[in-house]
Amino acid sequence: MNARAFRSILRISLLFLVPTAPLLTAQTVHLSIDASKPGATINRNIFGQFAENLGHGLYGGIWVGPNSSIPNTRGIRNDVVQALRALKVPDVRWPGGCFADEYHWRNGVGPAAQRPATLNSAWGNVVDTNAFGTNEFMDFIHQIGSEAYISVNVGSGTPHEAADWLEYMTAAAPTTLAKQRAANGHPEPYKVGMMGIGNESWSCGGDMTADYYLSQLKIYSRFVHNDNPSQQGANHMLEIAVGPGTPETAWTETIMKAWQHHDWSWNIDGLSLHSYTVGSGWPPSMPSTNFGVDDYFKMLKSTLSMDDFLRQQEAVMDRYDPQKKVALVVDEWGAWLAPLPGTNKAFLVQQNSLRDAILASLNLNIFARHADRVRMANIAQMINVLQAMILTDKEKMILTPTYYVYKMYVPFQDATFVPVDFDPGTVHRDGVTLPRVDALCARDASGKLWLEITNLDPEKPLDINLDTADMNIKSAKGQTLTAPAVDSVNTFTAPNSVMPKPISASVNGGRLTLTVEPKSVTVIALEQ
Ligand code: AHR
Repeated sequence: MNARAFRSILRISLLFLVPTAPLLTAQTVHLSIDASKPGATINRNIFGQFAENLGHGLYGGIWVGPNSSIPNTRGIRNDVVQALRALKVPDVRWPGGCFADEYHWRNGVGPAAQRPATLNSAWGNVVDTNAFGTNEFMDFIHQIGSEAYISVNVGSGTPHEAADWLEYMTAAAPTTLAKQRAANGHPEPYKVGMMGIGNESWSCGGDMTADYYLSQLKIYSRFVHNDNPSQQGANHMLEIAVGPGTPETAWTETIMKAWQHHDWSWNIDGLSLHSYTVGSGWPPSMPSTNFGVDDYFKMLKSTLSMDDFLRQQEAVMDRYDPQKKVALVVDEWGAWLAPLPGTNKAFLVQQNSLRDAILASLNLNIFARHADRVRMANIAQMINVLQAMILTDKEKMILTPTYYVYKMYVPFQDATFVPVDFDPGTVHRDGVTLPRVDALCARDASGKLWLEITNLDPEKPLDINLDTADMNIKSAKGQTLTAPAVDSVNTFTAPNSVMPKPISASVNGGRLTLTVEPKSVTVIALEQ
């Protein structure tokens, strides 16, 4: 017997020896879409991102400098730009976070050699070369095709400093600051889409009371202007006030009560809300790798409380702003897990698993269901920090499972919410109960319907049965994201372990049927 014949006999005998996993029967979920009752627009800014000067979020993640051997354009990594362009990132919040209330923008403009080295005392006291400053951030925003969401320093800055920064960025008239910007390579005024007035002012932003912050807010709103001629009137820059970081409503009450009677001298377009999923209290201790289904249940259960958090704040906002003029802006959210062993704890480095992708889809669906009030959100954070889209290691780059969810959700940007009715069912583990399924439907500008289905069940597939009566739908196709285990991750040595794959379905007798795998996120276009 030759070696080849021996190997095939061995393979066949092994097939009989290997115990097969029990075949878990799929559960059926009936969905019905009511396309005649469209809801709010799912604002594209719900898919915003957050890039703080923290760890390798900027340095190494975005900025490598023009002399780097890593391919770059004016110091900004080409691989990262290319990956982010595919997400159509609507806006990027920068420079923080806690860092924003320690940032002095003048340190980060002008010739690189003349910029001072400072300490990043918010995040590990590391030396900050200030090489990545305003012009570099704006170049990055331009390269990825996004919009700037600038957080100004209220904690250790002044209204004067912030006003100068906005003038530097946005003045078209030949003021000294506008000329300085031109001398630094950008004669045209920049667009600043949003301005955050402080960050977590109830904590790292200066531990202020709500009343004290309110007085600061009024001053900053009054005196810090966007001077860009194209951003006046209807296109004005959105001003976002610091909002709550816990479900308590006292802070929101103070700001919104004052806003209700605001005069011409100040205004806000949004109130921020921060909510991280830690799963087991602070400091975050849940691992981002090598965890089991128990952790999966705990984290997803915990993340679903976002819905109640939003409802509580919205109830207060509705009282003072029934016309929903002020948006709720969830500008920090995501899974905050234990730092990866061997990393600088202040750099907030964690892996990103299939579980985190599912967590992202659940939150995006919650935001979409609150789309009339939640018109902006920024996942924390974009690169190398917390629940990142991208991880880099010198010249290497990987896309995380969360990245793929954002890519699959692109069709939902600015789409119109369409109600979808289904019984979510339940799935249990060690006393923790989760819904078995979540779903989101929306119609894009071209009229096409998109359906998202999250199967939370870590073991059983789901048979989706969609009633398409009156919708003239012939087929469906899209992508599905799953992996062998809830803790499956992409690594620098195995970068493609968790990736979406195509999925399609046909319609028979007015019903569309589709089986989605356990622990999966699926987005399909319903083709007419
Ligand atoms: O995203 C990390 C930090 O979390 C931010 O700097 C701060 O605003 C929040 O507490």
